[in-house]
Amino acid sequence: MQLGQPSRTALATAYARAYHQIAGEPRIFTDPLAVRIAGITPDQLADLETTKYQDDTDMRRRRRLFLAARARFAEDTVADAVAAGTRQVVILGAGLDTFAYRNPHPDVRVFEVDHPDTQEWKRQRLDAAGIELPSSLIFAPVDFESQTLAAGLAAAGFDRRRPAVFVWLGVIMYLTRDTILDTLRFVAGQATPVRLVFDYIYPASASKGEEMDQRTARADLVASIGEPWLSFFTADEIANVLREAGFDRIDDRDAPHLVAGYLGIEPRQGSIAPPHVLCAMRTG
Ligand SMILES: C[S@@+](CC[C@H](N)C(=O)[O-])C[C@H]1O[C@@H](n2cnc3c(N)ncnc32)[C@H](O)[C@@H]1O
Repeated sequence: MQLGQPSRTALATAYARAYHQIAGEPRIFTDPLAVRIAGITPDQLADLETTKYQDDTDMRRRRRLFLAARARFAEDTVADAVAAGTRQVVILGAGLDTFAYRNPHPDVRVFEVDHPDTQEWKRQRLDAAGIELPSSLIFAPVDFESQTLAAGLAAAGFDRRRPAVFVWLGVIMYLTRDTILDTLRFVAGQATPVRLVFDYIYPASASKGEEMDQRTARADLVASIGEPWLSFFTADEIANVLREAGFDRIDDRDAPHLVAGYLGIEPRQGSIAPPHVLCAMRTG
């Protein structure tokens, strides 16, 4: 992230979630606040997601469906955890995520953790959009690279001795490996059962041909706005890392299977190294 600036990739994913609500594509994820928090009109959203990028409309649609599917997967996991008795939700690197403002579980506390610059910007956006802050929401500003999650959450009143569900979407690729490993160990050390949902991307060497070109273009784009991808994993590698950290159950899905599962269709063939989302759990 650029010093003193909120995350620009957070705005890009918020635009994609917002356009998913109005695009007329199969709806995987419903978020009635997504367009409001995006802060631009439906026409402007359509312009950004389609007209400007006519060449890669199909790629953008696939990306949008994946972003919708990962959000759905996370919120389904939260609902499962709550049904099983968990009362603390932690959204790590929340960006413009709106779960906390739609939280359907009245006795569940939601901790939004984000870089202080992004969090300050989000609060201004919430205010501008007239979105109220529910009493169940607690903000915890933390720079993962220079501050500890433990201290940030403790200061916010988070209880380490009670189960929790952590959601960490679209973040770990922007962090250093040491920070990711520290965070995984912290989450695994939570009172059980603890669940963690996050997504990750494969190393560039796993892609080929057109997929490699698209990946390179995306990597260049995020680097050019000061948020370069720093960390990559394969499914085997992340599974080993998670087991070493103490997690004992892993449900890992690649993007085509995740999206197809929600749409009730066959997975799209041909992706060599699509992004993955997983739910890791430590049960005891
Ligand atoms: C691509 S956005 C994803 C936002 C949101 N989770 C979503 O899915 O829309 C990346 C998020 O990671 C956060 N982030 C990146 N580096 C960070 C750091 N060092 N400390 C805290 N948050 C960070 C950004 O502030 C931003 O909210």
